[in-house]
Amino acid sequence: MAEMKQAFVTGFPIKHSRSPLIHNYWLQRYGLSGSYKAIENSPENFPNFIQTLAEQGLRGGNVTIPHKEAAFALCEKRDAAAEAIGAVNTLWIDAENHLNGGNTDAYGFAANLDAQLPDWDAGAKIALVLGAGGASRAVLYALLNRGFEKIIVVNRTVERAQALAAHFGSKVEAAGWDEAQGFVSSADLIVNTTSLGMSGHGEAQEFPLHLAQAKPTAIATDIVYIPLETPFLRQARQAGLRCVDGLGMLLHQAVPGFEHWFGVCPEVTDELRQIILDDVLKS
Ligand code: ATR
Repeated sequence: MAEMKQAFVTGFPIKHSRSPLIHNYWLQRYGLSGSYKAIENSPENFPNFIQTLAEQGLRGGNVTIPHKEAAFALCEKRDAAAEAIGAVNTLWIDAENHLNGGNTDAYGFAANLDAQLPDWDAGAKIALVLGAGGASRAVLYALLNRGFEKIIVVNRTVERAQALAAHFGSKVEAAGWDEAQGFVSSADLIVNTTSLGMSGHGEAQEFPLHLAQAKPTAIATDIVYIPLETPFLRQARQAGLRCVDGLGMLLHQAVPGFEHWFGVCPEVTDELRQIILDDVLKS
């Protein structure tokens, strides 16, 4: 009998992760006999955990907060996205028994837009990215890969935006929130990566940017999916922009990992989206 393929998601804490729901949906849909479980690891346990995956019968898994940087440092090989972003969210053991680390957040960000608005990057030249944390790094990597000519990164702590501009090169420019409004009218794409308006983070009544001045063809997207319509997206919708919510990024970033561990490239279906949405709504 073939060995059962086992994968995991680890974080600290991990009980709220929706990754098991996603991967177990696909295991069932494709009739595979694998398993995917949430395993909590403290920062002290994490190195030993990922360095003994094979002994535990695990083929790989997902890594989330607070372990993404530690995973980056501990894996033996890294893909180009992980190198550029400086964090690993997906681990797999390759045929030579090396522990590989990848970052699928940039892939998930772009794949979600590809699925929702296939023309999103056609002729797109200027992007305005709000926020300069870990998620912003993945968004910048994705946008540079898709040929954006100029990306303005706006952050409350402007030094973090400047550090990203220095890291990603001359197409990326840093700005503070006091300058952000001035960039709205020239942006083809506006991305919110800040936690402003995220459920449980002191919901802002109004997002601190007026989107009525945006191009009528501009696209707005948020990486936050709780609530599904963030204050940023609500304002963008009211301004008549085309909007893409952040739930699809969560679903699409899971695709490459599933393929590594279970050998099938899974589809992000409407049914899967509804399952996750139902789970978000009941929490
Ligand atoms: P992630 O990895 O999800 O990007 P993060 O690194 O904590 O998370 O980044 C959160 C982002 O939201 C940062 O850009 C943060 O701005 P600072 O770097 O200045 O902290 C931004 N953010 C959070 N709360 C904010 C607020 N009240 N106003 C403006 N920006 C805020």
